[in-house]
Amino acid sequence: MITQFGYKEGVIHWGEINLKKLAQDFDTPLFVYSVDEFLGRMKAISESAGYDHLLCFSLKSNSVLALLKEAAKRGFGADVVSLGELLVAERAGFLPSKIVFSGVGKSNGEIISANEKSILLLNIESESEYNFIKKLSAEQKINFGLSFRVKFEVQLEKLHPYLGVGKKDSKFGLEESIAFSLYEDAFKSGLPVSGIHFHLGSQIKDMEIFRRASELALDFIFRLKKHGINLTYVDVGGGLGLDYENLVEPSFSEYTSCFKPIADENYKIIFELGRAISAPSGILLTKIIRKKTSGGKKFFIVDAGMTEILRIPLYKAYQKVMPVEMNSKKEEQVSIVGPICENSDYIAQDIILPDLSEGDLLCILYAGAYTSTMLMNYNGRPHPAEVVIKGKEVFLARKRQSYDDLVARDL
Ligand code: LLP
Repeated sequence: MITQFGYKEGVIHWGEINLKKLAQDFDTPLFVYSVDEFLGRMKAISESAGYDHLLCFSLKSNSVLALLKEAAKRGFGADVVSLGELLVAERAGFLPSKIVFSGVGKSNGEIISANEKSILLLNIESESEYNFIKKLSAEQKINFGLSFRVKFEVQLEKLHPYLGVGKKDSKFGLEESIAFSLYEDAFKSGLPVSGIHFHLGSQIKDMEIFRRASELALDFIFRLKKHGINLTYVDVGGGLGLDYENLVEPSFSEYTSCFKPIADENYKIIFELGRAISAPSGILLTKIIRKKTSGGKKFFIVDAGMTEILRIPLYKAYQKVMPVEMNSKKEEQVSIVGPICENSDYIAQDIILPDLSEGDLLCILYAGAYTSTMLMNYNGRPHPAEVVIKGKEVFLARKRQSYDDLVARDL
């Protein structure tokens, strides 16, 4: 984290804010975000580029309006993948001219809405999608820039199988040769072709992957140029990974420098980053409900679980857990599990924590990305409240769901 976070007189504070007090005031489980961290990260990434670019925040990683509004106000852009996200981005105040829309299954209706709103780029992911846009152009003017999501052959084997989405046989994007012929057709048809898009995957820590994709993209762009097709934008997707274990910050300048060769050719780079901005901008507070030993294993059963932080069992992901209050020197090996009726409902397996009691609080770090956007009501669990810290101020950004909300859609 780039803002101050740590123990002050035995209790974790984020900036000026005492997390124990927050949990008492708003109850648990509770998502807590820092505006300073969120904007600080966006600014740091943007400043590290040093070339013409637009940083679009990926709404799928976090869509809390209070945070989005702060980014929109400062001129950042948004990356969306559905009409739902597009409407949220609009509500947050992002200019349509700073919104890019990707997604492998955009419906005709979603494409028409994107056109009505005149967004910056629509990243086309299939021939069928392109054919629909071409047909639409006969009936209405196309107001977004056309861009094709191209799959360059970059080695993604080291990534988690669910997170390396740029592989040739994945459902996403277009193979190079197909994309090339669609560019030619779109150009000949007089459609407003203005960009190219690639997104390799998420949680990428090896910068060589970005560098290689950048080289291949530039080569592709030069080939297009030889055919008279000139682009303005190169949307390099998202994917910058984080060290969830040691919390060592990635080098933003090393990341942005991967795309400098493209920027040096006078293309405007678009970043669609989510995790690297939002994960460290949020934490999840949870309370120990029960302590238990079974089969020689010690468990802390807490009031958050896979319904709040699905990414842990889904990707066998690791998220660091810290006690909110440090008042015991004795340590023990424990597993932190949720209250949900699934074996996969765990938060941490066999970790070392101080000797804690029922009622004590735990803080799950880097919980601002792909957590609240992936909430579930499974096992009749209302979504938790979400609060935002802004300087010395704290406010409720999203209220906790009520038990009535659980049946609100039933007729
Ligand atoms: N652009 C596109 C087209 C994407 O599909 C994604 C993420 C992003 C940008 C943002 O990627 P980021 O910078 O956040 O890596 N639920 C998983 C991550 C799924 C990522 C999906 N696509 C997790 O919790 O690790």
